[in-house]
Amino acid sequence: MKFLFGNLKFSKASVQTKFYLFFLLYFIVSALVVTAVKRQDFKTCEQSSFCKRNRAYADRLTANHSLISPYSVIQDSIIIKDGIISGDLINSENNLIFIFELHLLEIGAARVRINEKNPLKPRYDKAKDWALVQDPSYTLEYTLISSKPDVTSLSFGKERKQAVSIYHSPFRVEFLVNDVPIITLNDRGFLNIEHLRKQVAPGLVDQSNGENDKIIDDENDLDKGLWKETFNGKEDSKPNGPESIGLDISFPGFSHVYGIPEHASSLSLKETRGGDDSYSDPYRLYNLDVFEYEVDNPMALYGSIPFMMAHRKGASAAVLWLNAAETWIDITKNKEDKHRLSSLLGFGKLTPTSTSAHWISESGVIDVFAFLGPTTSDIFYQYGLLTGFTALPQSFAIAYHQCRWNYLNQEDVAEVDENFDKYDIPYDVIWLDIEHTDGKKYFTWDSVKFPTPEKMQNNIGIKGRKMVTIVDPHIKIDDNYYIYKEAKDLDIFVKEPDDRVYDGWCWPGSSSWVDFTNPSAQEWLIKKFAFDQYKGSTEYLFTWNDMNEPSVFNGPEITMPKDLIHHGGWEHRNLHNIYGVAYHSATSKGLINRSNPPRRPFVLSRAFFAGSQRYGAIWTGDNFAKWDHLAIATPMLLTIGISGLPFSGADVGGFFGNPDTELLVRWYQAGAFQPFFRAHAHIDTKRREPWLFGDPYTGYIRDIIRERYALLPLWYTLFHEASTTGMPIIRYHIISLIYISFP
Ligand code: GLC
Repeated sequence: MKFLFGNLKFSKASVQTKFYLFFLLYFIVSALVVTAVKRQDFKTCEQSSFCKRNRAYADRLTANHSLISPYSVIQDSIIIKDGIISGDLINSENNLIFIFELHLLEIGAARVRINEKNPLKPRYDKAKDWALVQDPSYTLEYTLISSKPDVTSLSFGKERKQAVSIYHSPFRVEFLVNDVPIITLNDRGFLNIEHLRKQVAPGLVDQSNGENDKIIDDENDLDKGLWKETFNGKEDSKPNGPESIGLDISFPGFSHVYGIPEHASSLSLKETRGGDDSYSDPYRLYNLDVFEYEVDNPMALYGSIPFMMAHRKGASAAVLWLNAAETWIDITKNKEDKHRLSSLLGFGKLTPTSTSAHWISESGVIDVFAFLGPTTSDIFYQYGLLTGFTALPQSFAIAYHQCRWNYLNQEDVAEVDENFDKYDIPYDVIWLDIEHTDGKKYFTWDSVKFPTPEKMQNNIGIKGRKMVTIVDPHIKIDDNYYIYKEAKDLDIFVKEPDDRVYDGWCWPGSSSWVDFTNPSAQEWLIKKFAFDQYKGSTEYLFTWNDMNEPSVFNGPEITMPKDLIHHGGWEHRNLHNIYGVAYHSATSKGLINRSNPPRRPFVLSRAFFAGSQRYGAIWTGDNFAKWDHLAIATPMLLTIGISGLPFSGADVGGFFGNPDTELLVRWYQAGAFQPFFRAHAHIDTKRREPWLFGDPYTGYIRDIIRERYALLPLWYTLFHEASTTGMPIIRYHIISLIYISFP
């Protein structure tokens, strides 16, 4: 590490103090403050019928030990060929047949896919097209260990240290490393695939395909919401009826699991079905614009990465649940008393020894990757090979960014820029929020406030600085707006079930949303960033993608209705969590393509999914100028980093509210050690550029920003490491190393 600091001079005392401060901030998880999130705008598991049904399914099995999973392998159906083990499963409760495949992968992972053998129509299976770099190759390095009537086992990998056993009845899959089980699927019997069916008349299910289906009972609470669901007065027409999937994935011998961002929650995930300090709802993955979100909460936020890692001394294991529909995850820990004697005497403590996650998604197929490590860094690498590594950013992107909603006009921009020089504070990028546009029509400029955007950017650019403008995905419905006209003519908007273009409400008022899952829409947006298309843009201009969950002010849960239709006839419900990455991907490619030779892009996105790391940075959305929001940023960013997306940050100073000087200074001191370092504030807040506070505060802020700059070679090295090995950028280990490296 030392070479990185060769020419830097810090006294041990100053570094010690700064790291002491950093740790202090890390541990300030103080009393919760009263928050303003409108919980009633967002569903609980109880209000999401498929979540409720799957939880009830799990409860039934947990409560009655004589019940076992009805899924079993059909005798003699297993075929092992070219790294794929496949077979048929039968559900003894309705006699339906499912096909499963287990792929042994070259990257040191395995993949399990389960789908209906003869679905009424195809089930959505395209999350992989966005999350994966390519379809992973199978390994031919495997050996069949046993093929008995009740279990099929293979070892695989060069040294055959990894193994998998498929138990036939009930169906259960166990992955082992060095003969020790580390991941099991369906251990608790929660596998549940709601098969597609026809509703011949309200309340009556077509049974003509020979299945033993029960008729819907309106009196039964669990049957409500099967074919239609209403939340806050908004109806989801659910033409395909129930189609959820559920499965338990356990990590035997692991007390802690991590990942599944984005939640304003702790690093080690909490239990959700009882237990110490547990949540009552499962963790939810459903990209949402949650106004004034609460800390210490499993509610869904702006991004979703269905990746979970288990770690204990000497072993790590992880899974990716590749599904882009609304997903809920219950976490339970099986406790074992390690101190039986003390427990008999009445003062024993239960020690958790295994953790189990119950994954529940609204639709799609079961597609699970099991990463077998064996080390944590092996898993980061395996996951990176599968979903891509963080794109190495240009160095300006990892420096300090100055943003607010909004810098008012060109004079304001020039003044802020000059003040950084005057007060001798380094900065690299100044940002323009939605008010820079002509009436929230992205790719345009307000001609009064920003009459000469190219000149403005050049003035900044000649100093080696950059500018970022916001480009949101909602498109103002206005026939005089060229972007709207082009998208309408190309017929690339998301549609209502009756084929009308969807019309919702966002910043510009009445808006439509381009369907970025449509290849023509991708191609179109990529071109919109060309310098001759985006008038007023220059090589110094980069992009901010916001509201791409997508946020729809008048939609259910502030997002798009699930029964809207995308390219290929797919309902929005299937792909909700990839809308954001599809937009991020086209924007990033647009910036690459605008120059010849291509230059590295910079695009900040609010929504994300597995694979977003290939396109740029993300931030944790609209946080609050409160101490608990400062504290929660660290576990949130560590979690996002563990989940393969390390280029992330939180608004420095807090987006809502006015931080007092102490909070602001502390926030800068924490933000300087986070991968994406940007100050940002809501339009209603007081101005808070660093020089407005006077000394000693301005001095403290100057010092810490300068320290960020002094450490930029280290940051760049860490980004390079992330871009080649998948290692997260912020980690406890690195912080200790820096500390030790200073004499
Ligand atoms: C959203 C963003 C915020 C931005 C605002 C206006 O709330 O999260 O960062 O300033 O929209 O564009």
